[in-house]
Amino acid sequence: MATPQASENWSSRLGVIMAVAGSAVGLGNFLRFPGKAATYGGGAFMIAYFVSLVIIGVSICWAEWTLGRWGGKRGFHSSPAIMGLIVGRPWGRFLGVLGVIIPVGIYMYYVYIEAWCLGYAVQFATGRLGGPDIDYAKHFVEYVGANADGFSLGLGMGQVGLFVLIVYLLNFVLIYRGLAKGIEWFCKWAMPALMVIALIIVVRVLTLGTPDPTLPEQNVANGLGYMWNPGNIGEQLRNPQLWLEAAGQIFFSLSVGFGVIITYASYLTEKDDVVLSGLTATSANEFCEVGLGGLMSIPAGFVFLGAAGIAGQGTFGLGFTVLPQVFSHMAFGHVFGALFFFLLFLAAITSSLSMLQPGIAFLEEAMGIGRKMSVTILGALTALGSLFVWYYSKDLKALDTIDFWVGTCFIFIQGTILIVLFSWVVGVDRGLDEAHKGAAIRVPGWFRPIMQWLCPTFLISIFVLWLAKNVFGWNFQFSGAEFAPSGYITDLIGGDGTPPSTVARASVAVVGVTIAFLTIVTHLAGRRWYGADGKGATLLEETR
Ligand code: ALA
Repeated sequence: MATPQASENWSSRLGVIMAVAGSAVGLGNFLRFPGKAATYGGGAFMIAYFVSLVIIGVSICWAEWTLGRWGGKRGFHSSPAIMGLIVGRPWGRFLGVLGVIIPVGIYMYYVYIEAWCLGYAVQFATGRLGGPDIDYAKHFVEYVGANADGFSLGLGMGQVGLFVLIVYLLNFVLIYRGLAKGIEWFCKWAMPALMVIALIIVVRVLTLGTPDPTLPEQNVANGLGYMWNPGNIGEQLRNPQLWLEAAGQIFFSLSVGFGVIITYASYLTEKDDVVLSGLTATSANEFCEVGLGGLMSIPAGFVFLGAAGIAGQGTFGLGFTVLPQVFSHMAFGHVFGALFFFLLFLAAITSSLSMLQPGIAFLEEAMGIGRKMSVTILGALTALGSLFVWYYSKDLKALDTIDFWVGTCFIFIQGTILIVLFSWVVGVDRGLDEAHKGAAIRVPGWFRPIMQWLCPTFLISIFVLWLAKNVFGWNFQFSGAEFAPSGYITDLIGGDGTPPSTVARASVAVVGVTIAFLTIVTHLAGRRWYGADGKGATLLEETR
């Protein structure tokens, strides 16, 4: 059945690469990655990270690009509709529902963080932040409303409220303009701007030398060593938690297994390359993450505050407490602070835009509505979720809970479904033949077993360990590493002498309502997509 938005297309190959790279390069690169690498022992984390990049990242990226283009050629643009076709049975569409839930769910809290970044950029630019006497930890908590529930609706500079409204509006104006005029146009200037700003900051950090001569060990080289030195690799690599975190970082950072790439690729034609484009977008993300993000926060924090100043800070502590302190010690700190947070904002908005497109495409083709109506419905749905996250901001509990379930757990599941469909349902040989149509390069032969065997096995093993630890809270020993039960389960059901957390339960309920809504729409869309007389029914026959 023809879909109303079937005429949407990318305007150029560079545009689609920029858009996919824009989706990938985000807060994960400049905030999450340095935090994880520092926490998990630098060099050992990097080994697990690069292994995951090749086995999971590149494999699923190629699978997702290929399946997306394949579905788009048949007139479908959403993960559920495409997965139904791949399986060749109408029930297959339910395998793709997570591909809509994940971007929609992550969007609900991602825009809130995006607003912090824009707010911090403006505060540095106007001189409100950047002074040496500010208690940055206190400022952060008050600014984002982590000290109490309620809307931090200060429309001045003191709270994030105004910026939440601005970023929300900006995202919807851009997404409303459509694929080429909105997302592609924005990414085409935002991505180069982001790279230039990031390079300026990296050069500044690498030329910091030894700012305090009385503390000669706090120099750039030692700062880099803090992040990159291997430590006891043998011991650390036997820690499954390190592998879980490294794999999770690859998923989050590359936006693979999200449902974004499958939708973006569905607007390509068979003449468009997917193999080199996928690899280029992945490489651009890695350059930004390892080459730029990895050289900023940790070395800068180390030279000014020492190892003790950055240890145990976590992702937000590093970005919003440590770095503002660092900028306050630097010459032209206001400028560098404004640039850094504007960089984060650009990285975030190109990612949040990409999280809206799968939901829009889905509603359009599931309900047979146009883009305007689809944007309106998705706007209302995500606004409710974002208001919830924003209201329950004490200790960032709602954000943290939704991030755990949607931003980690669901991505593992959807990533696994994608690679199993590609390698086993379509079949790796047929899948790669499809990938090679219009391809500028070929997937090397030695990569086939990685996609067919290693990637699914690796994912399922990691996921089982992850479930054991985080969902079932098993306290098990593995090569000397002892795990504590997950707080996320005790949050929901109570335990350890603590009552269940109302906010954690409500957050799971918000995710549950979103799942229910999108699953019902997927169910109702079955007739439209694959109805006996529709194009879909014939297609299902062909693919069966
Ligand atoms: N890939 C996006 C990021 O890294 C979601 O933030």
